[in-house]
Amino acid sequence: MGVWWIVVVAILAHTASAAVREYHWEVEYKFGFPDCKEGMVMAVNGQFPGPTIHALAGDTIVVHLTNKLATEGLVIHWHGIRQLGSPWADGAAGITQCAITPGDTFTYKFTVDKPGTHFYHGHYGMQRSAGLYGSLIIDAAKGKREPLRYDGEFNLLLSDWWHESILSQELGLSSKPMRWIGEAQSILINGRGQFNCSLAAQFSNATAQFSNTSLPMCKFRKGDQCAPQRLHVEPNKTYRIRLASTTGLASLNFAVQGHKLVVVEADGNYITPFTTTDIDIYSGESYSVLLTTDQNPSQNYWISIGVRGRKPKTPPALTVLHYLTAPSSQPPSSPPPETPRWNDFERSKNFSKKIFSAMGSPPPPRKFKKRLILLNTQNMIDGATKWALNNVSLVVPSTPYLGAVKYKLKKGFERKSPPVSFPVDYDIMNPPRNRNTTRGNGIYVFPFNVTVDVILQNANGLDANASEIHPWHLHGHDFWVLGYGEGKFRAGVDEKTYNLKNPPLRNTVALYPYGWTALRFVTDNPGVWFFHCHIEPHLHMGMGVVFAEGVNRIGKIPDEALGCGLTKHFLMNRNNS
Ligand code: C2O
Ligand code: CU
Repeated sequence: MGVWWIVVVAILAHTASAAVREYHWEVEYKFGFPDCKEGMVMAVNGQFPGPTIHALAGDTIVVHLTNKLATEGLVIHWHGIRQLGSPWADGAAGITQCAITPGDTFTYKFTVDKPGTHFYHGHYGMQRSAGLYGSLIIDAAKGKREPLRYDGEFNLLLSDWWHESILSQELGLSSKPMRWIGEAQSILINGRGQFNCSLAAQFSNATAQFSNTSLPMCKFRKGDQCAPQRLHVEPNKTYRIRLASTTGLASLNFAVQGHKLVVVEADGNYITPFTTTDIDIYSGESYSVLLTTDQNPSQNYWISIGVRGRKPKTPPALTVLHYLTAPSSQPPSSPPPETPRWNDFERSKNFSKKIFSAMGSPPPPRKFKKRLILLNTQNMIDGATKWALNNVSLVVPSTPYLGAVKYKLKKGFERKSPPVSFPVDYDIMNPPRNRNTTRGNGIYVFPFNVTVDVILQNANGLDANASEIHPWHLHGHDFWVLGYGEGKFRAGVDEKTYNLKNPPLRNTVALYPYGWTALRFVTDNPGVWFFHCHIEPHLHMGMGVVFAEGVNRIGKIPDEALGCGLTKHFLMNRNNS
């Protein structure tokens, strides 16, 4: 086996400081110990999580991605990067490209236009849950300063981990009846967690909240891949902590014992700073917080990441904020901060409603041109459990949409768009009266440069008295979060509650139980963009829609994105004539 180094070539481009950063990546499974128990993880160049990409705003990233998996296709999505002018590099299998077949290489090339905390992850099958992810961090261009002051920074990529393989999970989800994947065994921080033991075992009440039997104390040997990374800090300094969640299922809450957090960035956009004791983070979201080390410098402090939004059957992930002035091996003097009650949704909503864009960030257009109202429901198709939008459960076709719309391959997908709303008398407070849904692969098509509103409408699932949180993520854009509301959206009334002054720009937003969330974006990025629930099993069960915009302005798609389905025949015909 050849040794693969990450090759970073920094070539000065014509704009004085923009660099090209080029990487050669190979993805394969390896045995690892994400939570101290051995399991199969997807590794990039042998690393899990994959290598962190650091770049400056304006740089071009080139990743030559080789699929070394024996039997699975592969793509990587650059979550939070808008892919302006490069929709074929978005890395959503079946949407923007064909999955890379085993042995093949695909080249992603795109520019990163602004500073922000992002990540990348697999976007084929449930490969994100298999550990295919890493961080993607963009700093301000040379000579430009970020509007933040800090003395050091840390990067925490959060995920959840199952002992069951993703192939088995996928099979269970599509079985009749469905076999649900259950809650994760562990929460991981930078790919490290502790299964069946607790760092905080010396405080029995710390573990009592999620299980009756308290777990034994963790014992690590030197070099253990599951030992937590501690955060080493000096007293009286300010640190930036970058947080991103790529969980398959869990909504998380992050807290640092005894310390306040000042939230300054959300999904790669600056926000109006606000102070909090803890922060909710949903799958697909990222934040930066500033933490000042103003506590007793002879002590260490817990960092705790617990589950919210679902009954917590997964113990919180823990690590330690280590003041360099305190004895390194001294445990914190009291139990870790307790995660807020999992179903205190009011608390979660209040947190979301504290987020406003930073001064000077662009306000949304005053009016929308097109509007979709998407009813989120859980349904059945012939005995299988599905998720649907306006009663259509998405099945991604074998011909990627991007090539199909660009080259007008009529048979690539259904030409009829899915419904733009749902029946006014639908009862969102109860299980669906008609439990059956339909499969579909139609898309919403928008002209270039129009303002689109999307109202996400939550409802009761199949079981009585249950409505779940869904974190919705849009590719290719940031959108303004105009507002949240309870119950059914009232067209003509609820628009009056919108924040049009300083709504935050984001790429992921939570839809709360039995409520609605309104967002707005402008179709200024020609391409085809996935919009979906970021919970991996929900997406797998059809919880997504597809937007095509400015279709006649899409540039030349690289051939290597087109080697499957109808686009393959199109390529063959074009090259023969
Ligand atoms: Cu991070 Cu389409 O997702
Ligand atoms: Cu969902």
